[in-house]
Amino acid sequence: MSHDQAFWLPFTANRAFWKSPRVITGARGHYYTTDDGRQLLDGFSGLWTCGLGHCHPKIVAAVQEQVATLDYAMGFQVTNDKAIALAREVAALAPAGMGKVFFTNSGSESADTALKIALAYHRARGEGQRTRLIGRERGYHGVNFGGLSVGGIPGNRKVFSATLLPGVDHLRHTYSAADMAFSKGQPAWGAQLADDLERLCALHDASNIAAVIVEPVAGSTGILVPPIGYLQRLREICDRHGILLIFDEVITAFGRVGAPFAAARFGVTPDIITTAKGLTNGVVPMGAVIVRDGVYDALMQGPEHVVELFHGYTYSGHPLAAAAGLATLAAYCEEDSFARARAVEPIFEEMIHSLREEAKVVDIRNVGLMGGIELAPRPGAVGARGFEVFLKCFEAGVVIRNGGDVLQFSPFLDSTPDELGRIFDTVRQALRTVT
Ligand SMILES: Cc1ncc(COP(=O)(O)O)c(C=O)c1O
Repeated sequence: MSHDQAFWLPFTANRAFWKSPRVITGARGHYYTTDDGRQLLDGFSGLWTCGLGHCHPKIVAAVQEQVATLDYAMGFQVTNDKAIALAREVAALAPAGMGKVFFTNSGSESADTALKIALAYHRARGEGQRTRLIGRERGYHGVNFGGLSVGGIPGNRKVFSATLLPGVDHLRHTYSAADMAFSKGQPAWGAQLADDLERLCALHDASNIAAVIVEPVAGSTGILVPPIGYLQRLREICDRHGILLIFDEVITAFGRVGAPFAAARFGVTPDIITTAKGLTNGVVPMGAVIVRDGVYDALMQGPEHVVELFHGYTYSGHPLAAAAGLATLAAYCEEDSFARARAVEPIFEEMIHSLREEAKVVDIRNVGLMGGIELAPRPGAVGARGFEVFLKCFEAGVVIRNGGDVLQFSPFLDSTPDELGRIFDTVRQALRTVT
């Protein structure tokens, strides 16, 4: 049997894929090259990853130099210079008081790491009964068991339902089509949805709750922008009850919402921030969990020779990833990427909302350079219409993404109006030809 199709693709309809494979062989700047020699405009910055563009020369050079200097160094009880330097840079960018950085290899690992740190923190403070974790419906925190358990995407949970972590509950999600459809930026309605946390505090008793984890802007479920005041209210309730607040910023960190972190954009500082993706511009897999100083300090007790947190990965702080991260953060600064993204945002907003009158469009949502166009599902075939629009755009030379029937957009931080115009014109044509 031939092994030509040995690769089992993640989050992919594999049988459909192999009937007409979509294979990328190169990339530069804002374009991909395919195996049949076509150039595609990347309207998704990789997979929310490559805000600076592909094959950024300074990141490429940094990784090339690093691989020839230090390929790998033991990461337990020993470390490497680049990991130390990157942690310092990440902490400098983080909200004040969040000065400790734990490295992972992905967003999923960042989510599970954050949850474990929260549990360990309470136990170290003598509140070991605080074991309950609160996520949110429609949330996405990766695919490992912790993140999956606090996540709220039914399709991801279904098959694993009986094996998810016990002691987890979920806030209701923040979407109400009737109250917020076609909002531009943050919806005015919905701050009171945060009060759902008070309901869970009453139900479980707040003294049993360790942490609440939310995406400041829910990405994978189809771009749910937090109502004005919602995150502030979550913060207040967490403070009132001694609950840690975790922002999963795997998508929103590093410029995607026109700021280093969504925490900065929305003016709410959590206790823990999870990141990945944009940390290295997607060039080498890496995540980072950024922790409030007091959380770290609480764990620094007992005899000094004893490991304080029994957690870590062989590749935590990998020198290649850290070199990519250092070059990435330097490029964000040199190119003023976060401010540029903020400057592009109104153009992006206007263009995405220009599709409002298209048949089949039931909502459009956006903040920063994140956008979603929700289509009415085709009766009896939920997700088919979204997938077909994705395929038609791909054929027409533009890469977007569909999460079911929500078309998703994540353009580069330095996108030009012409590029954005091409992306949305292509989508418009595709929408006019799908049934
Ligand atoms: C908010 C959020 N958390 C976690 C993850 C998981 O990241 P990874 O796929 O790197 O494990 C993602 C991925 O898209 C994400 O959007």
